[in-house]
Amino acid sequence: MDATHWDARYAASSALWPTDPNVWVREATQSLPPGRALDVAAGEGRHAIWLASRGWLVDAVDFSRQGLDKGREAARARGVADRITWIESDVVETAPSADAYDLVVVAYLQLPARQLGSALRSATAAVRPGGTLVVVGHDAANLTGGVGGPQDFRVLYGPHDIVAHLFGTGLVVERAETARRPVPGVERPALDAVVVARRPPSG
Ligand SMILES: C[S@@+](CC[C@H](N)C(=O)[O-])C[C@H]1O[C@@H](n2cnc3c(N)ncnc32)[C@H](O)[C@@H]1O
Repeated sequence: MDATHWDARYAASSALWPTDPNVWVREATQSLPPGRALDVAAGEGRHAIWLASRGWLVDAVDFSRQGLDKGREAARARGVADRITWIESDVVETAPSADAYDLVVVAYLQLPARQLGSALRSATAAVRPGGTLVVVGHDAANLTGGVGGPQDFRVLYGPHDIVAHLFGTGLVVERAETARRPVPGVERPALDAVVVARRPPSG
């Protein structure tokens, strides 16, 4: 889906995604001391806003202007507008500054492997020494054993796919699993690919 499609999706609903942060993002980041964070494919900015409310200075990047506008408005309502910079950019084509962030979050960026690899290479390079990368996505196992997310296997992946993309980047993988996320009122859980990795401190 290109930016035009995402704009149309965001324009058609008041809130496309939950406003609470994803449980795995929260779990991986809640004990980190605040610093500079990058939210890759931020959408309506739920993670950017949550991190900002915890003291982080956040750059939130997405190619959907509609998504970013909604995020900007929500950040204003939550009183954290001054802690978030909203950046309209294609995360496959354009890399953020290298070594610039203490935390990089990539949540539910569902792209074919080559594009995802490009986005993850840039996201990884943006993690400064001592910093953390958190990647969460709809796991391909959802097609048979889970619920939710796109039903196109070409944009689904597993934790091993993410780990393969991180090979040779210098990041040390601390968590890589398919995690079961209960969905209220639904028997099957959502299955998420969750990877947490850190760049060892320099020196
Ligand atoms: C499923 S939403 C996830 C939003 C947010 N990370 C969250 O967890 O609430 C996926 C987002 O990826 C963005 N996206 C997809 N491809 C992109 C690209 N090439 N560059 C920038 N953003 C992209 C879409 O605009 C959309 O906002």
